[in-house]
Amino acid sequence: MSHKGFLIAGNWKMHPDTLGEAKAVFASIARKAKSARKTVVVIAPPAPFIRDLGGKGGKAGKSGAKGNANGGRPGIVRMAAQDVSEHHSGAFTGSVSARELRSAGAEYAIIGHSERRAAGDTGEIVAKKAKQALEAGLRVILCVGETERDGHARYLQTVREQVHSVLSAIDKKLARWMTIAYEPVWAIGKSYDSAPKPQDIHEMSIYIRKTAAEVLGKKSGLDIPVLYGGSVDAENAKAILKDASIDGLLVGRESLDPKSFGNIIEYADSI
Ligand code: 13P
Repeated sequence: MSHKGFLIAGNWKMHPDTLGEAKAVFASIARKAKSARKTVVVIAPPAPFIRDLGGKGGKAGKSGAKGNANGGRPGIVRMAAQDVSEHHSGAFTGSVSARELRSAGAEYAIIGHSERRAAGDTGEIVAKKAKQALEAGLRVILCVGETERDGHARYLQTVREQVHSVLSAIDKKLARWMTIAYEPVWAIGKSYDSAPKPQDIHEMSIYIRKTAAEVLGKKSGLDIPVLYGGSVDAENAKAILKDASIDGLLVGRESLDPKSFGNIIEYADSI
């Protein structure tokens, strides 16, 4: 049976330096996305580039979220914010709100990335950010993942707490706009053979869905889309997409390489 359609997301982090470079990489990815029949492509550029790269804009509070859990219609690259403020609005110099990002054209927001958690985002802050994003009409890609794999399976508890603290804080009616990205910190930014094996990712995806079901109930919990991220390249992406029972990928470095990211999109679309 062929797959119903993956979500392939690229997190550009703090790259590239200029809008010109961003446009060049984006144009090439957009061409690939256009020919995809069922793969939803999402790019999270640095916030100042969202509008210029083709964010459609949108009225804050009005969900741009339509279609299936993976993000609706393929063809156009959807824009994501890499983070949002935990506050609604106000005197928070330097912060950008979910509603502002939605208005600039973001349809998704990455929340709880390990690089933000390392910079001080606690579980409580991550939950507030997820709430702000959902209430502004953004789809949330919630990142969870352990820093290391200990021999006593304590890492499972870490992931469980990360999932629980957000899902129990949000309005259950908005849970259908949530996707969870499993990004083990030990596999981020490493060599491409450091990514976990598809079987390990498969087991974790089941664990995440079961954990989500504890909070959301069986139906919504077991259906929650799960992505994998951490040292994905065009090679290991194939086995992960084919064998790990996940709904897509969250790609870092390789999403700035249009050829490699294009190959990942093409492969996802062919399964
Ligand atoms: P890399 O693909 O560079 O390991 O980064 C993964 C990541 O952090 C995506 O959010």
